[in-house]
Amino acid sequence: HLHPSDIQQMERGSVVRRSDCRAKGGAPGFKVAILGAAGGIGQSLSLLLKMNPLVSVLHLYDVVNAPGVTADISHMDTAAVVRGFLGQPQLDSALTGMDLVIIPAGVPRKPGMSRDDLFNINAGIVKTLCEGITRCCPHAVVNLISNPVNSTIPIAAEVFKKAGTFDPKMLLGVTKLDVVRANTFVAEVLGIDPREVEVPVVGGHAGVTILPLLSQVKPPCSFTSEEINYLTDRIQNGGTEVVEAKAGAGSATLSMVGPTAFQNICFFPHIGQAFAAAKFADACLRGLRGDAGIVECAFVASQVTELPFFASKVRLGRGGAEEILPLGLLNEYERAGLEKAKKELSESIKKGVTFITK
Ligand code: NAD
Ligand code: LMR
Repeated sequence: HLHPSDIQQMERGSVVRRSDCRAKGGAPGFKVAILGAAGGIGQSLSLLLKMNPLVSVLHLYDVVNAPGVTADISHMDTAAVVRGFLGQPQLDSALTGMDLVIIPAGVPRKPGMSRDDLFNINAGIVKTLCEGITRCCPHAVVNLISNPVNSTIPIAAEVFKKAGTFDPKMLLGVTKLDVVRANTFVAEVLGIDPREVEVPVVGGHAGVTILPLLSQVKPPCSFTSEEINYLTDRIQNGGTEVVEAKAGAGSATLSMVGPTAFQNICFFPHIGQAFAAAKFADACLRGLRGDAGIVECAFVASQVTELPFFASKVRLGRGGAEEILPLGLLNEYERAGLEKAKKELSESIKKGVTFITK
């Protein structure tokens, strides 16, 4: 029988239960922390990860409203044990022992802003959170969502290097939303089901650094030059399209929706939709479990170009991004786009590195 103090602890979400280490059905379960869990992305991501059978423990950290979100999510009758952590004094407890840390903490854009305009606030937030990772779970896979991703990934890498814990394979900038958008817009043009479409998107996660490789779309297809211009522009500016439509109420949260991978393992297959971030996290967890052939686009430390970081297809495994796949053949339009992307990316990367090394 439970002692009353156990019940009080359970109500606070702090009892370690048997399901902490094993997910339902005896399959390996992973411990996942979401930093920024009470935000627009954080809340929906928390909901989706609570439904993911690969997750046995879910830690929800934020500087506001973490207890409320935790109480709400923890009532869902799925296996993952949910615990909430509020404010910096609880950061280390939130991170200790985690296998995967997902970071959507920070401010979103308002109309008229670029992602780089978020640097002044978000750079410091990412630095502090990554310092916590070096102390408490230096071997965790990190999915970094906070913008500007082109600079926050170099910031995270420098924090990890300074602490001597940097493993380039374990740090991934989430660019999955660009792929989700590209699949949707290409499917609209082709008049087919977006679930059938795979568009590689490489480079980075801002404006011209977002480079869809329309010559490599699966299933194989061809586009007119008008279609190529329209699709490239729409994919590169998808984030701004949402920021303007939300008119000051934030940036993309719900639009990061798509079916496929998450659907196959979801407790509730009829829901069949997941945030790009949840799909990406799920791919990382399946990689950690040892599944073969998990390939996603992500912004990672890379030797695919002369830049130290670049988004491209990566193969996910037990060691994170275990293999960075080559870009493949680019056409003339894409080669020109690549040069533009590299120019802007180079500046964004330098800005991130200097923030830590200055
Ligand atoms: P939001 O404002 O709704 O939520 C952000 C959350 O972060 C808030 O709950 C806030 O309290 C929390 N936060 C702030 N400082 C924190 C700190 N020091 N520690 C922990 N939590 C902290 O914003 P959102 O719409 O969820 O977007 C979050 C970030 O993700 C933004 O920077 C946005 O630009 C970025 N974003 C990236 C992508 C991508 O594809 N990579 C897509 C959409 C949004
Ligand atoms: C997006 O692509 O939607 C995000 O990076 C948010 C933004 O500011 O556009």
